[in-house]
Amino acid sequence: MNWWDEFPSAIRRGVPLAGYTTFGIGGPAEFFAEPRSIAELGRLIRRCHEEGLPVRLLGKGSNLLVQEAGVAGLVVRLPAPQFSHVEVSGNRLTAGAGCRLEAMISHTVRRGLRGLECLSGIPGTVGGAVRGNAGTPLAEISGAITAMTLMGPTGTIYDLPADQAGFGYRRSNLGGWIILAATFQLEEESSESVAQRRRVCFQAKRRRQPLAARSAGCVFKNPPENSASFFIDRAGLKGTRVGGARVSDVHANYVIADLGTISCDVLCLMAIMRRRVQDQFGIVLEPEIVVW
Ligand code: FAD
Ligand code: EPU
Repeated sequence: MNWWDEFPSAIRRGVPLAGYTTFGIGGPAEFFAEPRSIAELGRLIRRCHEEGLPVRLLGKGSNLLVQEAGVAGLVVRLPAPQFSHVEVSGNRLTAGAGCRLEAMISHTVRRGLRGLECLSGIPGTVGGAVRGNAGTPLAEISGAITAMTLMGPTGTIYDLPADQAGFGYRRSNLGGWIILAATFQLEEESSESVAQRRRVCFQAKRRRQPLAARSAGCVFKNPPENSASFFIDRAGLKGTRVGGARVSDVHANYVIADLGTISCDVLCLMAIMRRRVQDQFGIVLEPEIVVW
């Protein structure tokens, strides 16, 4: 008997990941699971640990490029209700890692709680947003977090205060941990004004970014000097194409994967963008997207 036969209803093998990412490209996961409970997730994680198999968490796949060769080991998604609950108590909101960011923001609007509405338009899950400290120059998700519930590699559950998560610009030190939930401290305000700010933030984003195209948002982090988009644009790279991948004409830090794109096209285009910006401005761009 193979180890995965212990999880007949949870594990599937050779599952294509393209449909689970916003780029819509990439190869399969060797093992793929959507556990129904924390207990089942714990058993799976412990078993992979014993087998020496890598485990990767997949949220909405909106900051992710999966390579054609696919991914060895287990890929876990958390769409089940146990992982996507939202609870509000006074000014505190706790959301499961599998909850969509936008769904969590809708709760804050209904309850008249301010602090997360400017993240509207970011298409990820709470888990993915916490892992990468998603945000905008106006607000990062870490600004409102007080604590997180995490699962370690042997399936043990821990609570971690926010000040120990190593949050910085698009970073945390939560690699190697599974984020199960996050708790936020928010401020009371009328539903109408929270909703109004959400609308303003979303519309500003929609005006400046190609939200409907197949992308993973900005591919590079902003260097300290200025926006990466500023340098990529000044380097004349808008519209540059490799295979099916092209630099967006709307926002220079977006790579769009047109139909027929393969992951190598995206990586090759990113290498060209990086080289040109380095040659022209002496600035080394660091990728923001995660490559599997
Ligand atoms: P994924 O892409 O699925 O995963 C990203 C990383 O998080 C991976 O390393 C994954 O293993 C890890 N991860 C996911 N879930 C968990 C978990 N439960 N526990 C541990 N690790 C986990 N980002 C911004 O910051 N600001 C923006 O304004 C913004 N705008 C965007 C607009 C568009 C149109 C798109 C497509 C993307 C945009 N992004 C933006 C990027 C992306 O949406 C965010 O980074 C988002 O937070 C990623 O969440 P996800 O659930 O999709 O994570
Ligand atoms: N700019 C250009 N050309 C462009 C786009 C922008 O020259 O095509 C210049 C303009 O000077 C503009 C400046 O860059 O004033 C800033 O542009 P923008 O406000 O779009 O901000 P950004 O720095 O490019 C960052 C985040 C986005 C986030 C916006 C919110 C990073 C890498 N990007 O973009 O996050 O939505 O601010 O304004 O931090 C993401 O991380 O995936 C992402 C989309």
